[in-house]
Amino acid sequence: MDRFALEPIEKAPHDELRRLQLGRLQWSLKHAYDNVPHYRRKFDAAGVKPQDCRTLEDLKRFPFTTKADLRESYPFGMFAVPMDRIVRIHASSGTTGKPAVVGYTARDIDSWTHLMARSIRAAGARSGDKVHVAYGYGLFTGGLGAHYGAERLGLAVIPLGGGMTERQVQLITDFEPDIIMVTPSYMLAIADEMHRQGIDPRGTSLRLGIFGAEPWTNEMRRSIEERLAIDAIDLYGLSEVIGPGVAQECIETKDGLTIWEDHFYPEVIDPQSGALLPEGEKGELVFTSLTKEALPVIRYRTRDLTRLLPPTARAMRRMEKITGRSDDMLIIRGVNVFPSQIEELILKHPGLAPHYVLELSKDGPLDHLTVVVEGSSDAASALAHAIKAYVGITVDVRIGTIERSIGKAKRVIDKRPK
Ligand code: DLL
Repeated sequence: MDRFALEPIEKAPHDELRRLQLGRLQWSLKHAYDNVPHYRRKFDAAGVKPQDCRTLEDLKRFPFTTKADLRESYPFGMFAVPMDRIVRIHASSGTTGKPAVVGYTARDIDSWTHLMARSIRAAGARSGDKVHVAYGYGLFTGGLGAHYGAERLGLAVIPLGGGMTERQVQLITDFEPDIIMVTPSYMLAIADEMHRQGIDPRGTSLRLGIFGAEPWTNEMRRSIEERLAIDAIDLYGLSEVIGPGVAQECIETKDGLTIWEDHFYPEVIDPQSGALLPEGEKGELVFTSLTKEALPVIRYRTRDLTRLLPPTARAMRRMEKITGRSDDMLIIRGVNVFPSQIEELILKHPGLAPHYVLELSKDGPLDHLTVVVEGSSDAASALAHAIKAYVGITVDVRIGTIERSIGKAKRVIDKRPK
């Protein structure tokens, strides 16, 4: 079999996909209800039983699941299978409190590997490619997810993990990988290190970057593509749902991320009311797993903001590139601001480097925002004007040195008194 050919389901007729989803959804709801006391309690309290799901539309009657549910049942309370069927445990990088712990059966690992192979193929991998993996290995799902997916596709994996930036550059130079898989912010740090070593970032063997694990704008995409002379393709996922490989942008269209709907059923809701939004409206992304054994998630609220779009390169729906999370939203003097809006403007100013943090402090009773960015002071005042003009808030822009992240960049530093 040609590992690089599309699977039949990637081009299946709409009705066939919906039929497959409904059958799997009914299985997943029953599996969660029968095997996880937490789901049984929540379904009972909401007055719904798995058999009430007769069409895909019926899903909206079922209760949501949140990160708090996973934390309350820390570490393994949401697992739907006994430990002798679990073959892997990961945990999400929580910034506060306990992490959300996730588990996988052998079949879950197989599906995840399969979906990551499908994702890497959709991103534009070719037979014979070498893949440099600079996502972190360990409890974070990025490294191992990318690793097994690339291996399944038959590619040569170079498992660097995050960190040791000088060595990343050395091995890119010496091993001549075709593909790099890394967070976009760490890609920029690697490019800076190339520059420091006198290596032209446009002159490496790299052809393709598969970037994700944090929000990055289309402006950032253009900047990375220009700086490294590669295609920069978006990869999305979250630990609670499986890890990377929930949705993947296809290289032929680069128009948002195709959701692997045969395994994850997407909905978009109003983050305030929880009401299901009509297709195409922007809101909070919610996923229900259709095949997962160890940790079924029913209507899991991702906090990620996007909209669903019709299929293009594949038969499955797409989601728009994620511009932010509902919990990243800052409210400055009544104006809602996402870090991505500031990022877009920074990238439009040639005198500024795309390394920045947003410092939140108190100015009397009001919240105040300081944008710390690398570049020239002329560009800093131009940025302050642009933020006033396009976002509508007054901010201070300070030129400073930004610490490089080796995984997910931390964009907001909250210095308000607790
Ligand atoms: O970040 C999984 C992953 C690894 C995805 C490698 C892609 C590549 P978590 O650590 O659980 O899992 O964080 C999940 O990261 O809810 C989003 O807020 C954010 N995120 C992930 N991918 C993207 C992306 C991994 N492509 C959280 N664009 C998610 C924007 C992303 N945000």
